[in-house]
Amino acid sequence: MYRSHNCGELNASHVNKEVTLAGWVQKSRDKGFMIWVDLRDRYGITQLIFDDQRTDKAVIEKAKSLGREFVIQVKGTVIERVSKNPNMTTGDVEILVTELTILNEAQVPPFTIEDETDGGEDIRMKYRYLDIRRNPVKNNLLFRHKVSMEVRKYLSDQGFCDIETPYLIKSTPEGARDFVVPSRMNEGQFYALPQSPQTFKQLLMVGGMDKYFQIVKCFRDEDLRADRQPEFTQIDCEMAFVEQEDILNMFEGLTRHLLKEIKGVDVEKFPRITYDYAMKTYGNDKPDIRFDMKFGELNEVAQHKEFGVFNSAELVVGIAAPGCASYTRKEIDALIEWVKRPQIGASGMVYVKCEEDGTFKSSVDKFYDQDDLKKWAESTNAKAGDLILILSGNADKTRTQLSALRMEVATRLGLRKSDEFAPLWVVDFPLLEWDEESGRYHAMHHPFTSPKPEDIKLIDTEPGKVRANAYDMVLNGNEIGGGSIRIHDRELQSRMFDLLGFSKEEAEAQFGFLMNAFEYGAPPHGGLAFGLDRLVSILGGQETIRDFIAFPKNNSGRDVMIDAPSKIDDKQLSELHIKLDVK
Ligand code: AMO
Repeated sequence: MYRSHNCGELNASHVNKEVTLAGWVQKSRDKGFMIWVDLRDRYGITQLIFDDQRTDKAVIEKAKSLGREFVIQVKGTVIERVSKNPNMTTGDVEILVTELTILNEAQVPPFTIEDETDGGEDIRMKYRYLDIRRNPVKNNLLFRHKVSMEVRKYLSDQGFCDIETPYLIKSTPEGARDFVVPSRMNEGQFYALPQSPQTFKQLLMVGGMDKYFQIVKCFRDEDLRADRQPEFTQIDCEMAFVEQEDILNMFEGLTRHLLKEIKGVDVEKFPRITYDYAMKTYGNDKPDIRFDMKFGELNEVAQHKEFGVFNSAELVVGIAAPGCASYTRKEIDALIEWVKRPQIGASGMVYVKCEEDGTFKSSVDKFYDQDDLKKWAESTNAKAGDLILILSGNADKTRTQLSALRMEVATRLGLRKSDEFAPLWVVDFPLLEWDEESGRYHAMHHPFTSPKPEDIKLIDTEPGKVRANAYDMVLNGNEIGGGSIRIHDRELQSRMFDLLGFSKEEAEAQFGFLMNAFEYGAPPHGGLAFGLDRLVSILGGQETIRDFIAFPKNNSGRDVMIDAPSKIDDKQLSELHIKLDVK
């Protein structure tokens, strides 16, 4: 038996007990006549004491040789500490060691294994197994486990069946590039790793499974960001004989359950807003509604004077930054510089201070009088003490810029609180989106999403106006899940592929299996997938998903610990029938 207890559980009630502990040496202090060692495992830290008077000489000698991160086993007696540490659960006791076994020595770690470490990101990634010994990383992994167990429990209780789907498949068009795997047995042919199990879960519905879920790895070869990894995990779900309303209610239930169980937060019914409303009101289809600052469109009240910049703009739009009328010239200039940075790209910003006495002071006082500015304040819902920030130009670009400014102002004002949760549904997404580069429509969600029945008549004449039965769940400004009601009719699915520019042959070759399945009694069905990494990180109060993944990739998609991707040898290549054309 390596241990009788773990390093986080001993307290005053165990005094005089003989115990065996095992773990890592966090640190040791040698005072000559006395040596203290902090012994650490997953559960906590327990102080060991080796004492000239009471400990065997040979044991003391061995204790002197201990270095940081040595793996040891000790036997000893639990005693009451002279100076107690109320900040530790084990702070009332220490172990007077009688036997010490060094199970494994350790080199000096390349960074300190402390909550606040001296190691930079790169070195910690290279030695991720050491980073995992640190509380912040360890706790994130334990937190992730807790969330995924709650998800499994909830869905299983609701009658969902966990079914695994294959990883070696044929490409699914979810919008990103595929990772591909060459087949040795089928010369010149490739599997693709799933971007999601989309077609399989639909086939499970045709197979009568009715309620499916899977916590599953998905693979997408796309540019990485804080909230994106090339391999990530979805909570993937599908249901048969459902309408959009059923799905929204089911997964709102799951999310509410998680917020309650994991964070102790009760949330009211989630607001539902349409995609159009989200874009007009927040400039964004994943609005952060922990704070207000809704967009106020000002074309009507700003385009009648001599101010050329506004008159020539497609859209003039502003937000009211709460309590910011007191901003100094310097603070306002800093915001103007911020929106002019190339990443945002605004050419300038107009502002109006709504003074406490009810008057207005603006950067365009030359062109507008107090009555004009009062109307601007009404349109942006600005109150006395607020600062109205206005951008103008091309409608889409300006909305995107103002949306970024809205988030920036909220961050500066401390309105994006990590312990506040504001979930919502965004519904009625467009079915298609025009892609300038390829000069054709793309499916906004994916090609299996059904159009709203009342919009089907527009498919041939105004495809861009067709709305989909598609929805996203948004939490604190992040898209944490998305899904749709699917097409379950061969005819309509085939029309959809036409619209997306597939020839009949291409559609048949890539998705014949699905369309055929629709001819054998496919039930109406729909579903959604949550991004587990995102969900966990937001519940954990952070936005970098890497911190909640045991072995993540870096920003260039590399695992620097195992050094992947890497070359394979010529023999492997030739077995795979691959000739490389790289230097
Ligand atoms: P979608 O593409 O919206 O839908 O993905 C679902 C959710 O997965 C998360 N996500 C990611 N998380 C981390 N890194 C990534 N690269 C990444 N890409 C997506 C997001 C997103 O909301 N098959 C459909 C679901 C369906 O229709 O049922 C799908 O995959 O949180």
